[in-house]
Amino acid sequence: MSLGKGDLQMAVESLRQFRKCSHSPYHERFSFPLLRGTYFIYRKIDVLRVVAIAKAVSKNPRYCDIGCGYGDFLTKIQRFIPDATGIEKNSGMFYGCNMPKPDYVTIADARWGIDKNFDVIFVGWMDPGMDFRDAVAAKTEVIVTTLDQGISLAAEFDGHGFERVASWRTPSWEDVNTEIMNRHYTKMSSETYRILSRLRGAHNLWYVYSRKCGNSEAIKSALVKCLEREKRTFVERYDFEGVLDEFGFSYLEELTILSNSKKEKVRLWEIQFTNIR
Ligand SMILES: C[S@@+](CC[C@H](N)C(=O)[O-])C[C@H]1O[C@@H](n2cnc3c(N)ncnc32)[C@H](O)[C@@H]1O
Repeated sequence: MSLGKGDLQMAVESLRQFRKCSHSPYHERFSFPLLRGTYFIYRKIDVLRVVAIAKAVSKNPRYCDIGCGYGDFLTKIQRFIPDATGIEKNSGMFYGCNMPKPDYVTIADARWGIDKNFDVIFVGWMDPGMDFRDAVAAKTEVIVTTLDQGISLAAEFDGHGFERVASWRTPSWEDVNTEIMNRHYTKMSSETYRILSRLRGAHNLWYVYSRKCGNSEAIKSALVKCLEREKRTFVERYDFEGVLDEFGFSYLEELTILSNSKKEKVRLWEIQFTNIR
């Protein structure tokens, strides 16, 4: 996604128009992910899981979000890891969001190398065709990535000296955006809406990688504790999560997906652990 100043101006104008007819202040983060949200869908439990992973590696984890955009997810992480930083290639992002570039974000192209070592590098939804896995793998112990099935690639680190420890899935932002647009901003019969709603397909996958012989066991224990807490107590949430509930993207919601031409039932946010040793 190579965005010029003109593209950003168009996106900003389009957001301005949308706000004139918006039915909820929470819709724009899903419909304008570049300017107001993220390209991967998350709840507060995802933030807490990533923080738990980082703290399993170090008491004071060095955390970096590569391709952090204007920093929506990064600032949520900073509530728990205040020194967390980001690297973003496109300085225009901040102009588009009408905000000064914060000091904790470095403007740089990660393909040409990352200048510090980190405990955890987070890569949320990298642009199709963009591949800086070598640079990331050289500078961290643990990697958390998200990828949109069938769209974003180059998010797997098995061939880079890392092993996959765990994974879970969240809805794809396209599916949530389509639901919002069909339900609230398009005239159609409820029958058509129901048929279209059944077409949701892409899902956003979260992969957790640890350097081989590294922190895999500690990460697994941390995630098991997260799961126990999520199931035992009231799950902390952000205000915008109501939109996900409205459209049937609840915590542990069962969805049918097509995998290798077969229908398979999966649950959103369910953690799958990889049998490593
Ligand atoms: C699809 S957006 C995702 C932004 C944010 N992580 C999110 O999920 O909303 C990809 C981001 O990565 C940035 N990016 C792409 N290639 C990059 C690179 N080589 N180095 C640093 N940032 C890069 C883009 O400018 C863009 O902000």
